[in-house]
Amino acid sequence: MKKLLYQLDTDPLPSVFVNVAGFDGGADHVSAYGGVTMDNVGALVEGAIFTRGPKDKRNTAIFIGGARLSEGQAVLAAVRAKFFGKFRVSVMFDSNGANTTAAAAVAWLGHGRSLHGKRAVVLAGTGPVGQRAALLLAREGAEVAITGRRRAAVQAVSDSINAQFGTDVRPIEAPGPAERMAALEGAHIVLAAGAAGIGLLEAQQWQTHPTLELIADANATPPAGIEGVGASDRGLVSHGKILYGALGFGALKLAVHRACIARLFEQNDLVLDADEIYGIAKDMVGM
Ligand SMILES: NC(=O)c1ccc[n+]([C@@H]2O[C@H](COP(=O)([O-])OP(=O)(O)OC[C@H]3O[C@@H](n4cnc5c(N)ncnc54)[C@H](OP(=O)(O)O)[C@@H]3O)[C@@H](O)[C@H]2O)c1
Repeated sequence: MKKLLYQLDTDPLPSVFVNVAGFDGGADHVSAYGGVTMDNVGALVEGAIFTRGPKDKRNTAIFIGGARLSEGQAVLAAVRAKFFGKFRVSVMFDSNGANTTAAAAVAWLGHGRSLHGKRAVVLAGTGPVGQRAALLLAREGAEVAITGRRRAAVQAVSDSINAQFGTDVRPIEAPGPAERMAALEGAHIVLAAGAAGIGLLEAQQWQTHPTLELIADANATPPAGIEGVGASDRGLVSHGKILYGALGFGALKLAVHRACIARLFEQNDLVLDADEIYGIAKDMVGM
């Protein structure tokens, strides 16, 4: 029986990255749909759940992606609302690579050390990757803050994370370099999750920082999100800090993505969201 992956993308053009990773994860065929919303996804889900017998349903799976986390979450909720009894298939949710990227970054940050009680700041943490990184750092017992340029936006994002997951992520309005530096006072961990090619921290700001221990940059597009962090750094020690660059944890991100796709076809009732994907990343980190 062929393993069929239905790639449901909230963007008009479905992601090629996700399509390739679907095949590489073990799907025999990947069907990509763009412009998927909570209102039009129902018929697609019915096609997935009503076509194969109970023992064969694990060979059909759904991936939900797209640029906007909130839209993806709404589609995920609509997909799950269609399931009943044995009429369900496994689902992976990874809008903008948020879950796999954050899972890989935080798995590396916590590899071989405890993050419990550490103060963590996710710079420009209002995007999909930053939101999920904030959640996972909080899951590890860190005290987490996210920054954003506008008070209302960063407040709304942290309220949303806290309401969904019972966390206590703190919003910090930080429109410029001085405010971002102030946000790092007393911090042990900084993770830059700004848009591609946006510099958020200068080298001397972290190199001379009295409390920072762990530094990660999710941005792989020059210039770096954190100046002086090499894209391929993975545990490099510099100025007494441990550095992780976007490509340094990107290899784990891709491996986790593929492993998640493979898991989808093992049973028909998995939902792989932030916590589940992070669990897989923790199992795989350092392997
Ligand atoms: N390493 C990997 O494997 C991997 C995988 C996927 C993504 N990524 C990278 O991870 C990063 C985060 O991705 P994402 O999709 O979550 O990012 P995003 O949504 O594009 O941007 C994140 C935040 O950056 C802030 N921002 C945008 N323009 C800015 C500017 N000019 N100055 C300061 N802040 C600005 C915005 O926050 P405010 O408007 O609230 O300030 C925005 O919410 C990106 O660099 C992406 O390329 C890496």
